[in-house]
Amino acid sequence: MSDLKLSCLECHLKFDLFKIRYFCSCGGLLEIAQNRASSPILTEKLDSRLTSRKASDRSGVWRFREGLIPLSDSTIVTQSEGSTPLHRSERLEKWSGSKHLWLKHEGENPTGSFKDRGMTLAVSVAKHLGQKVLACASTGNTSSSLASYAARAGLKSVVFLPSGKVSQGKLSQTLAYGAHVFSVKGDFDRAMEIVKHLAEEELVYLVNSINPFRIEGQKTIIWELLQDLEWNPPDWILVPGGNLGNTSAFGKAIDEAFHWGWIKKRPKIVTIQAAGASPFFKSFQQNFASIDSVKAETIATAISIGNPVNFTKARKAITSTGGLVEYVTDIEIMEAKRQIDLAGIGCEPASATTLAGLKKLIQNNQIKPDESATLILTGHLLKDNEASNDIHKVSFKEVEPDMSVIKNALNEVA
Ligand code: F0G
Repeated sequence: MSDLKLSCLECHLKFDLFKIRYFCSCGGLLEIAQNRASSPILTEKLDSRLTSRKASDRSGVWRFREGLIPLSDSTIVTQSEGSTPLHRSERLEKWSGSKHLWLKHEGENPTGSFKDRGMTLAVSVAKHLGQKVLACASTGNTSSSLASYAARAGLKSVVFLPSGKVSQGKLSQTLAYGAHVFSVKGDFDRAMEIVKHLAEEELVYLVNSINPFRIEGQKTIIWELLQDLEWNPPDWILVPGGNLGNTSAFGKAIDEAFHWGWIKKRPKIVTIQAAGASPFFKSFQQNFASIDSVKAETIATAISIGNPVNFTKARKAITSTGGLVEYVTDIEIMEAKRQIDLAGIGCEPASATTLAGLKKLIQNNQIKPDESATLILTGHLLKDNEASNDIHKVSFKEVEPDMSVIKNALNEVA
């Protein structure tokens, strides 16, 4: 564990684990290179922690600590993140055409999205490094998560949000946890450029997913899923793609789980993008030779990103697992969201790309109905009320407090 290094994805140059850097001198992304010769981590040990009362065992992130980074329990900033439910739904199997469908609901994390898994690591590392001002660009979930974890650690958070492109719920949540909000007249990609400059000048500590510790934490979505399935991986794992942090984390998690012998086969990763924000899909169609940024526009504001920073890591994740990249339209996203909501599970629009994508891939014969698939639902239903109210308004009726009127209306329901 102690010989973990930051390693450049392109030129493999190594840096000390806790050196504050986000890119190599060659411009490549940095990742945390695990020492492959280190003693294996046993699944029996991980499973034994499921009944423990210790805070680090109860966290669905720190339960896997030997596969993450070495930090003392007193440095860790945790709020029992992870341990999210794995749902089944006959309704959604029927609707998508899949015969073996699971939905892992990352919206059940403390701040309502998967971001908490990466943020517990990034904020713990910031505390370890003595950093005081933590920053991110965000479409609203990273900012909510940062604001909460920074507050728990007694640190300051500064967030850059694309003006008018963040749902009210996410904005309120970010403000409520005490973040300083800068609403940037521009899109997410512009906000990302700004915060990268500030980080390069060491004015802030950056906790977007180019921070390699974020990726480490998000690996545990996959490890926990594998544990939930008693270490029998599904054939396919579908995840929404924006900045491609999750796709990158999933590839690394699968690679390490396979290396450590936790699983005997690699599940294939499928990244689903919104049609109006699909540079990764376009790159996939051209064998990933390069990526061209786009001007992003989609109802799924969480993934309205035109220039994903984690492209090279995500490309590796798709190619090493034999995965796919697909896109779905806003209409398909909202219909899939309606189905997930009406199944009693619920999610925000970005998460529903996964179900819409699964249906499309089954229809196109790229995924077979009897292959098992897991959808990663990344955000909670209540994250975007504006989007929900619109698709569910048919079930809303103003009524006079008059029994005969109400009984008539009830007849239409029954
Ligand atoms: N789903 C939700 C609900 C998200 O909030 C995000 C990203 C994604 C999917 C995409 O994940 O970037 O790892 O490919 N939200 C970021 C934010 C951009 O600022 O909250 P990715």
